[in-house]
Amino acid sequence: MSFKTLFALASAAASLSGAFTALTRRVTCPDGNVATDAACCSFFALRDDLQNNLFSNECGEEVRGMLRLTFHDSIAFSPTLGGGGADGSILTFADTELTFAANGGNGGVEDFVSVLTPFLQNHNVTPGDLVAFAGALGITNCAGTPQIQFFAGRPDPVAAAPDGLVNQPGDSADIIVARFADAGLTTDDIVSLLASHSIGAADTITGANRGAPFDSTGHVFDSQFFIETRLHSALPGAARLPSDTALARDDRTSCLWQSFITDEDAMRTAFGLAMTKLSLLGHDQSELVDCTELIPVPAPHVPDPFFPGTLTITDVDAACTQTPFPALTQNPAVTTVAHINEF
Ligand code: HEM
Repeated sequence: MSFKTLFALASAAASLSGAFTALTRRVTCPDGNVATDAACCSFFALRDDLQNNLFSNECGEEVRGMLRLTFHDSIAFSPTLGGGGADGSILTFADTELTFAANGGNGGVEDFVSVLTPFLQNHNVTPGDLVAFAGALGITNCAGTPQIQFFAGRPDPVAAAPDGLVNQPGDSADIIVARFADAGLTTDDIVSLLASHSIGAADTITGANRGAPFDSTGHVFDSQFFIETRLHSALPGAARLPSDTALARDDRTSCLWQSFITDEDAMRTAFGLAMTKLSLLGHDQSELVDCTELIPVPAPHVPDPFFPGTLTITDVDAACTQTPFPALTQNPAVTTVAHINEF
């Protein structure tokens, strides 16, 4: 065996052993939990606290609120206009950011800021990590969500984000596509992230504050949202955002939108990847620590896309010239949608 071959074998063995050590390395946290990295330790107690005292281990209003908060915090990032992205500035600089139209008043985000902020007092985590962790953890209470990655180590925010970086429901597809592109997200990312509206509901924009869901299966992360946003009109009791109506029909977004109807696995995977991108805006992933081990694996959902009631393809608006709208069975039991807030 030549010296060169011996050297190559020795190097390969060394790098395999390094990878093995990284995979098997464990630290015992002060509270007795075992983690792959000490940076993950604080999140065990935070996980229990959030699950028991904020989410009540349910797919409810607080879960939806924390998911929405990840968007309003993270998308506030622009290479030219400023904003720290996923930095928790929406908590630290709430006095400023909650005055923005997209957040305060009809924006409806202040309740979520006020219930999450107190968790900073009892846990040694930064505001940016708290928002990202609460978003990733909360959705695991909803069947059908993916286990999304969680990275820890975002530094404290240094300033409030500038106004105008969070899209509003009256924005056109052009405005939304341009804003996301400025933040570093593609049109496919927009569609993928909007799978979140599958478990979303409107409180403030309807004025009722009772949670009018965006689809007929508001507690389940499924593809009904992508079907029902293509209907001529929303079902009685459901809410429909003008921005979702526009994106469901726009040439840049409608085909991926439609493809998710019959491919929930693709929808889940794409949502998970896009959430990771969103949660890293303003950060370099290599400077953060992967603590995904703290995020439980959610309950699965068996796909069952349907036309509500007696609706058929004739009730669907045209969009996506490349592929026909899929054939679906009807669910005669679903003709109206109930509010989903728990009070
Ligand atoms: C395209 C841009 C988007 C616009 C214009 C938009 C707008 C809205 C509006 C107006 C509401 C209803 C608020 C209310 O009446 O209380 C809402 C709810 C929600 N949004 Fe979005 N959204 C967008 C993207 C996103 C993204 C990217 C996410 C998550 C990654 C998200 C997550 C949610 C959730 C979970 C809710 C439900 C909140 C609740 O039930 O209280 N949205 N969104």
